[in-house]
Amino acid sequence: MSWYSSGIVDATVVVVVVVVVVDVVVVVDVVVVLVVDVVVVEVDVVVEAVVAGAVCVTGGSSGARVVCTPTLPTSVSLVTSTDTVPHAAVDTTSTRSPATLASRAAIDRTVPVARLPVRSPTTDNLSRVSGAASSAAPAGRYDNHPFIQACRGLPHDRVPVWFMRQAGRSLPEYRAIRGTGTILDAIADPDLSTEITLQPIRRYDVDAAILYSDIVVPAHAVGFGLTVTPGVGPEVERPFRHEDDLARLRPLDPEADTPYVLETVRQLVAELDRPLIGFAGAPFTVASYLIEGRPSRDYANTKAMMFANERLWHALCDRLADIAISSLQSQIDNGASAIQLFDSWAGSLSPAQYQRYVFPHSQKVMDAIADTGVPKIHFGVTTGELLPQISAVGADVVGVDWRVPLDAARERVGHGTSLQGNLDPTVVFAGAEFACEAARDVLRLNDGHPGHVFNLGHGVMPAMDPDVLTEIVKVVHEEGTVRS
Ligand code: CP3
Repeated sequence: MSWYSSGIVDATVVVVVVVVVVDVVVVVDVVVVLVVDVVVVEVDVVVEAVVAGAVCVTGGSSGARVVCTPTLPTSVSLVTSTDTVPHAAVDTTSTRSPATLASRAAIDRTVPVARLPVRSPTTDNLSRVSGAASSAAPAGRYDNHPFIQACRGLPHDRVPVWFMRQAGRSLPEYRAIRGTGTILDAIADPDLSTEITLQPIRRYDVDAAILYSDIVVPAHAVGFGLTVTPGVGPEVERPFRHEDDLARLRPLDPEADTPYVLETVRQLVAELDRPLIGFAGAPFTVASYLIEGRPSRDYANTKAMMFANERLWHALCDRLADIAISSLQSQIDNGASAIQLFDSWAGSLSPAQYQRYVFPHSQKVMDAIADTGVPKIHFGVTTGELLPQISAVGADVVGVDWRVPLDAARERVGHGTSLQGNLDPTVVFAGAEFACEAARDVLRLNDGHPGHVFNLGHGVMPAMDPDVLTEIVKVVHEEGTVRS
């Protein structure tokens, strides 16, 4: 079933879609299209998933997406990826000299750096916050940077690369300054967190920094009662089980509850000569920690709650969505150039379960920050079957693990959405030669598509040799090609 329209429309776009689901018969009736001052080049509507009463329709090369949520069958929302429509990409502020990082590298790596001056938000950032242009991303400091260009699927001159979990874990210089407390203590120290975030930039010359923090920091900050146990992960004293537990998740006030995170962001934005990625945990993945009480393999308690007490499940996820929104917005306000929403464990769900119990909440998060104009990356492991939905949540970039070849992933998310990934992290353990050849395979499968951010299919592991990662970055930078 498809509907096609082509041409340049010089008015606001209004799309009304009526969806009728009768048993397995789906009728999609596109009634009207359009408005806004957007160049709608092409809309190619395809029903991509029909699951348990849910219909997810995503657009073709325009990146327009129409999504109906199963819990609200009458609710139809249009998510337009206007970010993917080329816009004036003007670099309004010249990028900093790499000298800043180089001089910082000269600092004794075993000693936390001296307190840096706190920088207030830039004019660019303020214009993002004001949401001056909701139909196109405002010109940001790094609009011409290969990482941001790749996120938007625009031409650029080299394949950008960064690694999930690049901050911390395998770096000896990280272990040297990490201290003996929990990671939550380290995150509460902005000087230390700034230094840890910068270490992989110096070491690997990756194209973006990711904030050193954790997805459970906001829940910890509002007093839910959790810690992150070294070698284990997040652990909760009293797992979330009842209605009463909702009171333990009051709204997050980032300035008051996590001032150290925002100071770290400001310090980093002042120091870096490349984009900073902010992040949050998606409602499902954070909920899984709060409900299970510790890392889990089967998410039995989490799924039991969503199935048996759907009302409480949605109430919990709604709170976690609000917390993620506040956290992401505050990171963007303070200068983050892109964000990643980690739904690391969403792959434990079937497409129907994802659509019913998770999609509306992650979509709420993505919708809430869409006006900031910063690229939004959405990632989970083992999400091959969920890629169209992960994309339809409102991602500009979909993170792909190593189980799905990039060319197949591109077919699943549509050509208007960029991809991030997807080198199997374990190839690093096989040594530089093997790992670099595997990196070349990833580049080959991408075939020069401009919408590609090179990454691992999941994170850096503590036992990895950092020198192999450095070699991978060199291969990507020197051998990766980008078609214009
Ligand atoms: O990616 C980065 O390098 C930036 C920092 C970062 C951390 N956690 C620091 C951290 C980020 C982006 C995260 C996100 C995070 N945290 C996720 C999503 C990403 C993913 O890996 O899928 C998840 C699921 C968590 C929860 C979490 N925190 C776990 C499961 C663990 C223990 C296991 C592990 O991955 O090492 C943590 C602890 C943690 N968070 C460490 C670091 C550097 C290691 C412990 C330490 O150094 O004290």
